[in-house]
Formats: sequence, C-alpha cells, structure tokens
Amino acid sequence: MIFGRVKPLDAILATAEKKSLHRSLGAFQLTMLGIGAVIGTGIFVLTAEAAQKAGPGMMISFIIAGLVCAVAALCYAEMSAMVPVSGSAYTYSYAVMGELIAWMVGWALILEYAVAAGAVSVGWSGYLIGAIENSLSIDIPDAWVLGPFDGGIINLPAMIIAGLVTWLLVIGTRESATINSILVAIKIVALTAFVVLAIPVMNMENFEPFAPLGFGGIGAAAASIFFAYVGFDAVSTAAEETKNPQRNMPIGLIGSLGICTIFYMLVAAGVIGSVGAQPVTNAAGVALEPGSRELTAQCAAIAGQAVTCSKEALAWTLREIGWPQIGNLVGLAAILALPSVILMMMFGQTRIFFVMSRDGLLPEVFSKIHPKYNTPHVITVLTGIAVALFAAFFPVGQLANISNSGTLFAFAAVSIAVMYLRKTDPSRHRPFRTPAVFVVAPLSSLGCLYLFYKLDIKSIILFGIWAVAGLFVYYLYSRSRSHVGKGIIEVHEDDPDAPPTSVPPIQ
Ligand code: ALA
Repeated sequence: MIFGRVKPLDAILATAEKKSLHRSLGAFQLTMLGIGAVIGTGIFVLTAEAAQKAGPGMMISFIIAGLVCAVAALCYAEMSAMVPVSGSAYTYSYAVMGELIAWMVGWALILEYAVAAGAVSVGWSGYLIGAIENSLSIDIPDAWVLGPFDGGIINLPAMIIAGLVTWLLVIGTRESATINSILVAIKIVALTAFVVLAIPVMNMENFEPFAPLGFGGIGAAAASIFFAYVGFDAVSTAAEETKNPQRNMPIGLIGSLGICTIFYMLVAAGVIGSVGAQPVTNAAGVALEPGSRELTAQCAAIAGQAVTCSKEALAWTLREIGWPQIGNLVGLAAILALPSVILMMMFGQTRIFFVMSRDGLLPEVFSKIHPKYNTPHVITVLTGIAVALFAAFFPVGQLANISNSGTLFAFAAVSIAVMYLRKTDPSRHRPFRTPAVFVVAPLSSLGCLYLFYKLDIKSIILFGIWAVAGLFVYYLYSRSRSHVGKGIIEVHEDDPDAPPTSVPPIQ
C-alpha cells in the first residue's frame, strides 16, 4: 500500500526533543543562512541561460519561479515549524505519507542537492576562467575548462572545486556564522554594485521584442531560473539548531526568499536594459539551445557579443558597459562566494543520506563516522565523486534543470503533506499556519507541476529513469531493511544528532 509505514509524528518529535543540540540560531542568522544558500549560480550565471530561452521576458520568468517558491516556502514553513527535525522534506513525508513516498522524496533530494552542487561548481568555473582570462589577458583552451556538450572535453576547474569542498567537508569544516555573513555581504554588495551601475544606463528599447519565443519560452526560462531560488529549504534543515523555531523558521524562509527575489528582479532588469537579452539564433533565425555545441559555435562566430554567450553574465555585462574593473570584482565576489553554496548543498546531501541510512533505508556504511574528523566521510567522499563527475562533463544549465526536477518533486510532496496533515491531524499544535492553506498548497503543487512540465525533455526523462531506479532500490533493498518496517520506532536518545555533522551547520 502506497501510504503504509508511516513514521509516527510523535516519535519524530520525541527524537528532536531528546536531542541535546544547542539551539543557537535566531531569525537573522536563519535569513542569512537562507541567502547564503540561495544566491549563487542561478543569478550569476543562469541569467544568460534564461535570456537565451525567453529574451527580456525572463523578467516574467523570475516572477513565476519566485511565486512558486513563495507558496512552497509557506508550506515548508508550516512543516518545518511543526516538525523541526533533520531531513526536511524526507522526514515530513515519512510522518505524513509513509515510507514509500518519503523514500521517493529522499531519492529526489539526491538530485536536488548533489546535482545542484555540480551545477554551482560549473558556474564557479566560468567565473574563475573569465577572471583569469580578463585580468591576465590570456586565452585558456576550452578543452580543459568546458564539458563536452559545451564544446570542450572536461571542466577541470569545476572538478577541482568539487573535490576541494569534499575535502573540507571530510575534515569537518563547517561554515561559521561569521564566514557565512561575510559571504552574504559580499554577494549583496556585488549585486548592488551591478544594479547601481546597470540600471542608470538602461535603454528601454532593449526590452523589445519582449517575448521573442512567446510564453513557451518564458515558462521554459522560469523552469530553469527556479534554480536561482533553490536553497531556501536549507533553512529548514537547520530547524533543530534554531531558537524558537516556531517563530524564526518562517521568518528565515520567507525573509531570505523575499530579499533574493527583489535582487533578482533588479539584476535581470539591469542586464536586459543595459546590454540587451535577445536570444542568439542560427542563420535560419531559430533560437539555439543553451549549453549546446551549436550555440557555442554561433557565439564564436559573433565573437561572444551577446550576454547569452557568456559564462559569467554579470561580469561580462559590467565590462560591456564600461566598468571592466568592477566587472572583475563582481567576478571575484562570485569566485569567493559560490564555494559556500556548493558546501551547503553537499552538506545537505550528506545529511539526507545520513537520516535515510539511520532509518535503515540505505546501507549503514553511509553513516559510518570518521574516527578522527568525526564526519560521515564515506558518504561525503561518494557524494563528492558524483558531484565532481557531474561538474566535469555536463553544462551548467542541464545540471540546474536536472536538479530542479528533484526539487520540484520534493516541494510538491511537502505541499501535499501540509494539506493532508491539516485534514488528518487538525488539532496538532501548529506554531506557523500556512495562510489560506487550501489555496496556497494546491497553488504550490500546481506551480511545481507546471515548472516540471516546462523543463527540457532530457531532464524530465532523466528524472523518470532516476525515479524508476529508486523504486528498484526500494523494493530490492530498502523495504526489507527499513527500521519502521521492522517495527522499530527509534528515538535516538543519545544520538549525537549524527551525522556528527549535526554540530550546528553554521557554528
Ligand atoms: N540557488 C542556488 C544557486 O543559484 C542553488 O546557486
């Protein structure tokens, strides 16, 4: 039965209560944590991708993706305040819709976190190479800095940064709240500088034609740019380390999303208005697919004179409008700040694996702890290898779309879980109630469905294959080993909230 093997909510909450984690995070730190995880490759790199798909209409794409995230965040907020434990969407689903759905959500979260870490690594590589080439006036051969779909052979810098972050995680590096705040400040200053310099030179003619590829293009760009908002759910994974999560979680989730949305709208307007954002087309006037060899070739033919050709859209725009040094500094900001997004994504991944392994659904070795560093090194290294391979060979937009497919699935599951629980357990204390839940939650699920449908066909097929593989693993391995299935309802009293990484993530 699909909805069987529900992990009782009370047992989950007891687990959380018995843990002796230090609750140290307040609303401000959570908002910073959210912004730290959200602002990254999406706005710094994928703006070019969105322009190639939608032209100036990408402004609408940012709004659509932001709205879907806003309603999903309202649902997340109710769940994370009510069930303030690790595991995010996976744990909520376990408590509400049972093990099979929880498994599928956890399986989809692997796409969200690990593939997203790969995408951000590729975005970082683009900025690094742009900065080196521009400041030293040299030309690095594409073969070693772009993946095969982008016209190169292997993206070595992207692989290296993924490897470096893996190593940091293995030796137990946690981003301190201070470092996170500094990086958030760097990103905000960079985006503000961009807006301040680009908006005054806007030319309204650049907004025409507004939607060269119609509403289909705007929807497709929204599905991609959704990536720019992903990460706010990382806030909910810190629920157990949060002071008064009932109040602070919703503020952290919605506050970080709101601030990011404002910046994204301004940055998108700045790019379009200052340098134009019309898609690059082939000789027949057909817009080319982002991340394809055809687009790379056409970009070479026009000497890269379009923002949609750039792997470092914001730095490129600033150079074009006569601010090369500031462009390089914005590039430097991205180079400094993006690794922390990779770190958070990979950290989130290891924690989801850890919780699933603790529930018996994944091999115990996944939760093996390194004797010296006290980190789940086995799963961290495995995750790192996968992330490095994604980063080495795939284009950023493709990785972002694949990651989005998993995220959209998880968001839809949480939205359904919120409604379901309101019906089945209406009297449970809800510190934060999603306003108009029977409007907001269906909107969130439908919005996720719409964006999923607007993803490129390759990502949708890949998601399908991944889901089927997940079902195989579940029925052949996990189901018979599940602790809930064996009747063990665990309350991890002396569990040091492993992974030991459960030391508050931003301490
Ligand atoms: N939202 C994050 C980014 O854009 C994942 O890099």
